[in-house]
Amino acid sequence: MAEARAQAGGLVGLVPTMGFLHEGHLSLMERAVAECDQTMATLYVNPLQFEDPADLARYPSDPDRDLALAEACGVDLMVVPGPEEMFPSRPLTGVTVAGIGERLEGEFRPGHMDGVATVVTRLLAGLQPHRAYFGRKDAQQLALIARLVQDLGFPVEVVGCPLVREVDGLALSSRNVLLGARRAEALALSIGLMLAADRFDRGERRATVLEAAVRSAVPEDALEYVRLCEAATMTPATIAEGETVLVAAARFGSVRIIDNVHLVADHHGASADRGVRLGRPSLLYGSEGTMTAREQAMEPPGGAA
Ligand code: PAF
Repeated sequence: MAEARAQAGGLVGLVPTMGFLHEGHLSLMERAVAECDQTMATLYVNPLQFEDPADLARYPSDPDRDLALAEACGVDLMVVPGPEEMFPSRPLTGVTVAGIGERLEGEFRPGHMDGVATVVTRLLAGLQPHRAYFGRKDAQQLALIARLVQDLGFPVEVVGCPLVREVDGLALSSRNVLLGARRAEALALSIGLMLAADRFDRGERRATVLEAAVRSAVPEDALEYVRLCEAATMTPATIAEGETVLVAAARFGSVRIIDNVHLVADHHGASADRGVRLGRPSLLYGSEGTMTAREQAMEPPGGAA
């Protein structure tokens, strides 16, 4: 990493990733390239943030494809640190962001948020970017990183970028390819959040009602949580005032997905940020012989995997 940093000059942007890139990652890279003199992206599947070894083992990976996509976006330097470079021995130092890292994902995935905080700290220390770009899809992760940067005094600007959705509304995630025939069922999560965003746009501000809109769309046994939170601290909110985020997580078969809508209500007015939607099937499904997102969405629930 020291070598990579030495090569980069001017205003340096960083896009940390775990690979298996999709349009969400590419939008971060394009933005970094547009705003910075040099853009570095990292590809490191961080074992510290996987609480389940089986989940780590099946995490999708295609480094050659990732390198080609990042290069096409104009990324100047793709940093692919090996485990021995990142953590020559199991780190004895961990980063915990109290509160923000303990709720929601921290509760349902013990150790996950600390793993993210520790690896992002390691990347920021090693690569010393001026700006670091993260997607709003991981709203809690974004709040956690903004806070750790503030607390530890990293001289980096954290840039939150729009959540990107597939054609049918499913939030983009590398894990979507693991959903298989359950992809159609998984759409329920984004459908529920869109219902809640519509209610917010019509003036509803009560957390109980917004959360109930999501519950109405997602089967009870699939939904892990839905919660209205203050965006900066991820503390539960009872009313959608100021900047809040309605976050939700659900499990379809063995695949867990998260999604959110960002809600802003202040003296300027109110707006629900649903993210941006692709106009065509995601490149996640682009390889030959793989079903397109649209085809998968048309598969009946419980259809052949
Ligand atoms: O969002 C991700 O892909 C990961 O959590 C990150 C920020 C690259 C840390 O491993």
